[in-house]
Amino acid sequence: MNATEAFLKSVPRTAAEPPLVQVRDLHLAFGATEVLRGIDLQVHRGRAVSIIGPSGSGKSSLLRCLTGLVRPQRGEVQVAGTDVMTLKTEPEFIALRKRVGFVFQQYNLFPHLTVLENLTIAPVRVAGRPRAESEALARELLAKVKLSHKADAWPGELSGGQQQRVAIARALALRPELILFDEVTSALDPETVGEVLTVIRELVREGMTCVLVTHEMRFAQEVSDHVYFTEAGRVVEHGPPAQLFGDPRHERTRSFLQRTLGGGRSALAA
Ligand SMILES: Nc1ncnc2c1ncn2[C@@H]1O[C@H](COP(=O)(O)OP(=O)(O)OP(=O)(O)O)[C@@H](O)[C@H]1O
Ligand SMILES: [Mg+2]
Repeated sequence: MNATEAFLKSVPRTAAEPPLVQVRDLHLAFGATEVLRGIDLQVHRGRAVSIIGPSGSGKSSLLRCLTGLVRPQRGEVQVAGTDVMTLKTEPEFIALRKRVGFVFQQYNLFPHLTVLENLTIAPVRVAGRPRAESEALARELLAKVKLSHKADAWPGELSGGQQQRVAIARALALRPELILFDEVTSALDPETVGEVLTVIRELVREGMTCVLVTHEMRFAQEVSDHVYFTEAGRVVEHGPPAQLFGDPRHERTRSFLQRTLGGGRSALAA
């Protein structure tokens, strides 16, 4: 992000606009295992927020709470005006998931559908949109992720990085208000990591609200407006990337960053 972009992002769109994601004192346990132990998190519209932290700290669980995939015991979860904690019926959860894109490490494209069909199936079948409109949007999105020439290919004919770019386009095809990315480059060959990060970087620049769980520390540092460091189900600290990476307040953050930045591959070089 250059200085002008950083400045524009620092100006609230409207001072009074409530955050798109508001999490307060969130507690989640699986049996006796406490996974989230009082998480607070805010994401404003148009911003990119990264969540970093050691394996098992609860990052994926937190994202799953945002889309109602797991049910926390206590706390507040507001996402795009929806009180997720009070949702009960399947149609209510489907309505939420149409508004919140989710991209995982495993891209899970439908192998028996072409790339284009992978992008149109949910808009047509789940959202009830006209096929022609859905196809036009799908082609636009394939151009955005630089895969127009693969519209009629089968997922199995694509590289991991290409499949992940299709998965991102598929999430965008429902025109979500925000997208959650969970370690979307972790399963990829190092050569294809950069092309996926480039797509995400563009989305962030265009103002798509993004929540990124990532081990690509340099990338998180570069694209995020705000970074949360989590450990053992708690937010240890959060702040702008320059502060969190440059001058972390907590010793635990400092030692985690030293470990991960020490030998990690640099996404900036991609
Ligand atoms: N469905 C489940 N049942 C029981 N325990 C679970 C379940 N899902 C997650 N956990 C536990 O919750 C803890 C946090 O897991 P989570 O996947 O959220 O961590 P993470 O920060 O995403 O880790 P990683 O960086 O390895 O992806 C772990 O101890 C995990 O074993
Ligand atoms: Mg995880």
